[in-house]
Amino acid sequence: MRGLLSGEEDLIANLSNFCAALKETFNWWWVGFYIVKSGELVLGPFQGPVACTRIAYGKGVCGTSWKLAQAVIVPDVEAFPGHIACSAASKSEIVLPLFDESKQVVAILDVDSDSLNHFDDIDEKYLTELVSLLKFS
Ligand code: SME
Repeated sequence: MRGLLSGEEDLIANLSNFCAALKETFNWWWVGFYIVKSGELVLGPFQGPVACTRIAYGKGVCGTSWKLAQAVIVPDVEAFPGHIACSAASKSEIVLPLFDESKQVVAILDVDSDSLNHFDDIDEKYLTELVSLLKFS
């Protein structure tokens, strides 16, 4: 991932290739970004089925991760109160925040699986390491 991203400074290009690399490598159901814009999350580059375009602060798994400013792992989306179902096939997910240099949440990475209980703290550790390669300014 470092090699893929290091030669390019354009954020959208890098977010796009980041999603494609993860989707192709792990065959996850959906991999994408929501970007903080004017007080809500707006759909950014992604790989997978079409998704909802806007998510409010504190809503769904993504809005919760933004509010808490920390990763959220959901083993069973049906058991998460307020989960936003973009796809009925999505069964579990991991969401983590991306920060700018002043530690503000600027985007969310959302990864969905069509299997239950797919993600754990090892995914969180390495996805956190991977998103730190993305530079928001
Ligand atoms: N499930 C997310 C919404 C985004 S889609 O999964 C792509 C949520 O509850 O925030």
